Parts: sequence; C-alpha cells; structure tokens
Amino acid sequence: MKAFKPRILRFESLPSTNTELARQASEGAGEGLSIVADEQTAGRGRLQRAWSSPKGAGLYFSTLLRPAIAPDQWPLITFMAALAVGDALQEACEVTTDIKWPNDLLSGERKVCGILAEVVESPSGRAVVLGIGVNLTAEAYPAELASVAISVAEASGRGPERESLLAALVRAVARWYSLLHETDGAEKIVAAWASRSSYASGKAVQVANGDEVWQGITRGVESDGALRLETTDGIRLVRAGDVSIRASN
Ligand code: BTN
Repeated sequence: MKAFKPRILRFESLPSTNTELARQASEGAGEGLSIVADEQTAGRGRLQRAWSSPKGAGLYFSTLLRPAIAPDQWPLITFMAALAVGDALQEACEVTTDIKWPNDLLSGERKVCGILAEVVESPSGRAVVLGIGVNLTAEAYPAELASVAISVAEASGRGPERESLLAALVRAVARWYSLLHETDGAEKIVAAWASRSSYASGKAVQVANGDEVWQGITRGVESDGALRLETTDGIRLVRAGDVSIRASN
C-alpha cells in the first residue's frame, strides 16, 4: 500500500500554488508536500485559462505526487482527485456533486471545483503537481460566469468551513491515491468515477478541442480515462477537450 503523508505549507498570497509547488519539486521536495494559499494572483486552469482566485473566496490547494503506477495510468490521477474532492465536499459541506469529464465537479449543472494536474521534472524523476480550486463563496468566480459556476456557500446554504474541507480533502486524496496503487485499483477508480458522473454514459454532448468540435453521445470511459463518444462516424476516443451539454436543435 502506498502511504501518502501530507505536509501543508500555508501562504497568504502566491501567483499560483501549482507554480510554487512545481518550483519546490524541481528542488527535490518529497511526495505529500502540499501548498495552500489565501489568494492567487495568477491562478491557472486547464487549457491555459486563468483561474480567478480572490482572497478568502476559494480553497486553492496543490499537492505533490510521485505515482508508482504505469505511465499510461497517470491520467487517472485526475479521476482519483475528482473522487476525493467529491467525498470531501459531501463530508465537510454536505454538497453532493456530479463529475463532468474529465474532472470538473458540478453542483447541479454549475462548476464548483476545478482540477489541474501537471507533470513536472524533478531530481528524482517525473512527478505530478495536483492542483485543486474550490469556489467557497460567490466572490470566487467572475460575475459573468454566474450561470455556469457556483460556490459551496450557494450550494449548501451555509458558510463554508475552509479548514474542515481542507482536512477532509487531504484524507480523501490519501485514500483514493492509495487505492490507485493497489491491484485492480485503476479499474475500481474508473468504475467509481463512472458511477458518480452523469456524463459517463448516455449524455448528448459537444466536445471542443482547439478548432475541432465533435458531437455525440457518451458511451463510457476507457481504462486510461479517455471518454468514448459515439458520433455519426462511429466511436471516437476523447483524451482532451471541453465537454458541454449539447444544445437541442
Ligand atoms: C480548471 O478547471 O480549469 C482547473 C482549475 C485549477 C485551479 C487550481 S487552484 C490551485 C491550483 N493552482 C493553480 O494555479 N491552479 C490550481
């Protein structure tokens, strides 16, 4: 069993917890080193987007992983992270979430948490900086995103407890990360992810990846986390892109 021992460093303000942790990884930081910041001045999201991170409005967390699994299973790190955040939001905030492929946590149809996993080089080999951003209050996201974003406070109707959420999150990451290293752990994680995602199967979606846009019905996920999309041309495996519910016409 892989024991994950977190050690948390706290900062008032950072450009990005992922960037700071990547810097510390390049200087030899060990697995479990975790960083929390009250605010980020240059928070980063998937697909080179900015992640709005005003002071005290969100949980901005990154943790360093040194996975001992086959490289083709590394994409499942974001799956296990989505499962961990889902557990933590349920346990600490009583917020039930859905997962939109690959790793957005939704409350209803609106995004409450984003996950950014980045592979970094370090003196002892490749590592993963796993970054997690949770909207705690509505101030976390820009007003123009109000139709697609939500906060824990709005979803739960009560004040979010950042510290209890952080504690639950660290415990959940340890649990799911350890499972990922067990025999059959990858299959269990894919199955758990699919059971918690309304997007996994039978959903009419559009997938945008750069200039390419595909439409189809989701038909489950591959063992490496790729989304199976049934299009008019047959099954397409999606490994990157933005999924949205297809507007009916
Ligand atoms: C996304 O959905 O686009 C991913 C957002 C990830 C945001 C988190 S906040 C903590 C960590 N530091 C960053 O700069 N990004 C991640």
